[in-house]
Amino acid sequence: MAISKPTYQPMCPSQGMKEEQYQLLVSQIEALIEGEKDMIAVMSNVAAAIHQTMGFWWTGFYRVVGDDCVPHSDHQVRELVLGPFQGPVACMHIPYGKGVCGTAWQRAETVIVPDVEQFPGHIACSSESKSEIVVPVYGNDKAVVAVLDIDSEKLNTFDDIDRKYLEEICRMIKA
Ligand code: SME
Repeated sequence: MAISKPTYQPMCPSQGMKEEQYQLLVSQIEALIEGEKDMIAVMSNVAAAIHQTMGFWWTGFYRVVGDDCVPHSDHQVRELVLGPFQGPVACMHIPYGKGVCGTAWQRAETVIVPDVEQFPGHIACSSESKSEIVVPVYGNDKAVVAVLDIDSEKLNTFDDIDRKYLEEICRMIKA
């Protein structure tokens, strides 16, 4: 179905306005992905809906791909691989525990970074990115199957309101 025109607020919305935007976004996404089984299609439209509505710098998913690390085997080591996104080109592979994304995967919890320069091991895909939030997507067995990564070109963009609604959105993705 077509997504209704978002209330686009690129300039620092007030906290109340941000909550309203997220509430609208959550219901839009609910309708948008209802009944869709293909995860790439779901992640593509979720990334586009968040990006357009909230006016972030970069919005996208990294998927957990590959097998567990088995030394000397032919299997690919498990890592994060770039998935559907909106924004400038980005790095394509992120190891477990590396950068903000790999850390959120390792901890299996949301990571908010107010200033990326203060995060040890931050992977800079763009010098424009100043703050970041990474939210895990869980599979049926509660393992992390992907992460939602959002970057802002401003410092201190993300707070508990972003965490609350982005975690709700990630729970809607049945990977
Ligand atoms: N900064 C991320 C890498 C991905 S890009 O921001 C799109 C990280 O440190 O994991």
